[in-house]
Amino acid sequence: MTREVFCRTSPSLALVKYWGKKSTRQNLPATPSLAVTLGGVHTETRVRIAGSDSIRLNGEPIALDRFTPLFDSLRRAAGRQVCFQVESSNDFPSSAGLASSSSGFAALTVACARILELDLSPAQLSAFARSASASAARSLFGGFTLLPAGGFAAEQLYGSDYWPELRILIALVSREAKPISSRAAMEATRLSSPYYRAWLRNAGQLLDPALKALETRDISALGPVVRLSYSRMHAALLASSPPVLYWLPNSVAILRECQHLRDEGVGAWETMDAGPQVKVLCLASDVATISGRLQEVDPQLKIIVASVGEGPVCQAEQR
Ligand code: PMV
Repeated sequence: MTREVFCRTSPSLALVKYWGKKSTRQNLPATPSLAVTLGGVHTETRVRIAGSDSIRLNGEPIALDRFTPLFDSLRRAAGRQVCFQVESSNDFPSSAGLASSSSGFAALTVACARILELDLSPAQLSAFARSASASAARSLFGGFTLLPAGGFAAEQLYGSDYWPELRILIALVSREAKPISSRAAMEATRLSSPYYRAWLRNAGQLLDPALKALETRDISALGPVVRLSYSRMHAALLASSPPVLYWLPNSVAILRECQHLRDEGVGAWETMDAGPQVKVLCLASDVATISGRLQEVDPQLKIIVASVGEGPVCQAEQR
């Protein structure tokens, strides 16, 4: 019988975005981020001890370079020179701007720590996950999370049952992997965008109004801040040399449809990450109206309806 650890996590969608690194070596975020963990979309990861490290994502072997530093730091913490055999899958497109790295690295951290029998607090697990992907620090918790600028670990602000009416419509504009990774695009922004400094100066100012809106679960106060955060992040990206443009024609068509909906009094508040997908924050009572209108923009468009999700679920099994 082989011991195996299974872990299921959900992606972390930033309402106020992290973009840029305070320390590249330690992978510390330059800006604070406020996020919601998405319910209804998952990463599932299984880890076993093996003779060498290997990772398969959705059945395909993938390169180890981004994973080895995390494996090594967990091995060091446990004082054990063992290797990991990892099988991971997402029930949503990977590397397409749907935060698969947040749920992926969170699941990997929790599963590897458990198989190493490391007794770590959620904050310690969050710090390990952050070293690989800053957004993964937030996927260690359900509900609403905060990762401060320069922060080593994320914290949970509210649990998954805090805002039951909130929904996030994920409009799958493309299933293709993004043309440039968030890591490379962040570096390009830092090195070549004249707006990067302004982004850093301004990003923190969006946090307070977002926190206040969240405190009162006021979507019409939260929505405008969410729009400013992603728009300013993408403005900095666009000003890089060469410009980084993640948007596709359908991304823009959906942004415009959200504007039309708001003009008609329907609360549809969009956000985007490092990819062409558009995520629309709304209340459960508006899901049918908004989905119908986005479907008119593109009848082929796949829309996933997410709610506020839970933190990691992990169990050890004998197989
Ligand atoms: O954690 P990373 O390296 O995958 O970068 C995430 C960047 C954004 O998704 C665009 C913003 C965020 O805060 O999640």
